[in-house]
Parts: sequence; structure tokens; C-alpha cells
Amino acid sequence: MTSVRSARKDEHVQLVMESRREQPLRPNDFDDVELVHHALDGIDPARVDLATDVGPWRWAAPLLISGMTGGSESTGRINRALAIAARETGTPIASGSMSVVLDEPDTLATFRVLRDENPDGIVFANLGAERSPDDARRVVDLLGADGLQVHVNAAQETVMPEGSRGFDRWAANIEAIVDAVEVPVIVKEVGSGLSGRTLSRLHALGVRLADVAGRGGTDFAAVENARRAGRDYAYLAGWGQSAVCCLLDVPDPAPQVLASGGVRHPLDVVRALALGARAVSVAGAFLAVAVDGDEVATVAELRRWHEHLTAIHALVGAATPADLTTTDVLLHGRVLEFARLRGVDTGALARRSR
Ligand SMILES: Cc1cc2nc3c(=O)[nH]c(=O)nc-3n(C[C@H](O)[C@H](O)[C@H](O)COP(=O)(O)O)c2cc1C
Repeated sequence: MTSVRSARKDEHVQLVMESRREQPLRPNDFDDVELVHHALDGIDPARVDLATDVGPWRWAAPLLISGMTGGSESTGRINRALAIAARETGTPIASGSMSVVLDEPDTLATFRVLRDENPDGIVFANLGAERSPDDARRVVDLLGADGLQVHVNAAQETVMPEGSRGFDRWAANIEAIVDAVEVPVIVKEVGSGLSGRTLSRLHALGVRLADVAGRGGTDFAAVENARRAGRDYAYLAGWGQSAVCCLLDVPDPAPQVLASGGVRHPLDVVRALALGARAVSVAGAFLAVAVDGDEVATVAELRRWHEHLTAIHALVGAATPADLTTTDVLLHGRVLEFARLRGVDTGALARRSR
């Protein structure tokens, strides 16, 4: 497993980890989302039920381990640790892009471990929007997947030295993939966000689930630039909108929206749920604990997130994730500016528990 693609998987992990080591809790737009504290609203944590309906599934909690790895030996070990944590905590999990498997079948085991370690769990395959409906069907079959994440990553492909550029085919391709596969499709970004306009277009294409994967966490424009000899695309770092801004921009009708991108801890999950996300997915923060393949540490980290999610729901007085959508939310700084420019009633958001 030493092809360019296989090596790229390892490089991505290495570069993401280097940037996380420099600043593990980098400030981002989630900091501009404040939940108003009401001192008498708290409830007994025993009353909190995190179960969440997403698409056709009932998830144990509004949390997903997002698509990251597979395709090389070391990323196979990461997938194993993540799969065990997913199994032990009932957390749905997605694979990294399975494009490599289609051309290099000997990499399958590094993805298949997600299903083998977690036979009864909810597992998603992952593929780029440029791949064919037949390819989409194949990766779903190969993984025994319950759903398919299709990623749209124009900024990443633009900066990636060996990136593809056929962006104008993506919309038609997504429509064909949705028609072709027998499982639900979740269209996702990889860190640049899905605008209101994009969510409207996806809905019109028949997509019923989308993950905004916004700016503020893993930054693939920066990661790919670090792989370029001249590092000449440095100025594209931070391209796109944050998950917070994307959530404020969701149109009607739209696919059911998951949020991700820069989720650093369980409070960010709660903030995203309060802004209307049905569930939240996390990549980089879970990679940081699974990177050495230590399943015991990874299980413990996932358990901690579940426990803290329950605790914060109780603190805010939300018995379910849906109850968070009536919590008072104050927006500050750049997020407030974005909300005003896009016509969001920020005053109503701040006083909605009345
Ligand atoms: C090492 C790494 C590899 C990734 N590979 C993929 C991928 O193959 N397919 C995909 O859709 N997203 C991929 N992502 C993007 C994540 O799914 C997620 O959308 C993005 O990292 C934003 O979340 P975060 O800020 O929590 O990391 C990857 C992320 C990381 C950290």
C-alpha cells in the first residue's frame, strides 16, 4: 500500500495532527454563539434522553464520527480504534473516501474494519461527487453500509496538487447517485461549508440529508497547500463559511441538516443543536485521540462526550436535543454581522424561550 493515494491519506493525518498540536482549541465562530444561562431552568440529568431521529435512523445521541481515514495501514489502525469506540457507545461512523478501494482493492480491509468491528452499528461509506453511480453502489456494498456520504470539496481539489477539476459535473452526478443507491445519501463539505443556496440546490436534486462541514476546524485548503512544492495557495486558507453561519443560512425547503467543522468539545455540539442542526459530526477532535490506534482511549473519549452532552442538556434544561431549539441564543461578532446581512431575526433568537 504505497501508492500516491495511500500515501496521501497518511500525509493528511500527519498535517492535520501537526496543525492541531500547534493550537488544539483554535478560536472559531462557535465562540460567538452564547447560550443565555437561566439559573432555575436546569433539570435532573436522569431526565435527559439524547436519542435523535436522523433520516430513517434513531441514533443514540446527536453525534457522528465523520469520514476521515482508511486506505493505508496506519489509517486502517485509526479506523479500527474509531470503529470500536463507535460500537461501544452506539455512535454512527463514516469511512474516509473509498475512492482508493475502487482502484486498489487491496486497501479494502482498512475500510472494512469499520463494519467488521461494529457489525450492528450504523456505518456510512464515503465517496467524492465526481464518482459514478456504479462506483457509489460498489462502495456501499463493499462496506455493507447503511448510508453514503458524498463529499463536495472544490476548495480542496483546487489546491491539491493532483486534484480533479470537473466541478461542473457534480450536481448532475449527485442526482444520479441519489437515484442509483438504495441507502440514504448525505452530501457533505469537508471544511468550507454549505451555503443556503447550495442546500436549496441539493434539495432540488433529491438530497434529503446534508452535513455543512464548515470552516473553523480542519482546513483542507491549508492542508493541501502544505503538500505543494511552492506553497503558493496559502491565501486560500480559511475559505468558506463556518458551520454556525451555514446553520443560520438554512433555507426552506432544505435537506435535514447535520453540522460539523471545528467542533472542539460537547458545548460546540450543543451550540450547533441550538441553531437547528439535527445532529453534529466530529472529525479532527476524534482523530486526535484515535491517531495512535488506542481503542481504550478512544472509547473513553467518546463516552466522555456522551456524558458531557447529557450534563450540558441538563444545565440548559433541555430534556432532548430538540428542546435546545427553544433555548435563548445570543450571537456576537462576525457571526452577528453575517446573520444581519443574511436577514436572520437575531432578536427573536435571543428571546425565544419567552
Ligand atoms: C485526516 C482527515 C481526513 C479526512 N478525509 C475525508 C474524506 O476522505 N472524505 C470526507 O468526506 N471528509 C474527509 N475529512 C473531512 C471531515 O469529514 C470533516 O468534514 C472535516 O474535517 C471538518 O470537521 P472537523 O473540523 O471536525 O475536522 C477528513 C478529515 C480529516 C481530519
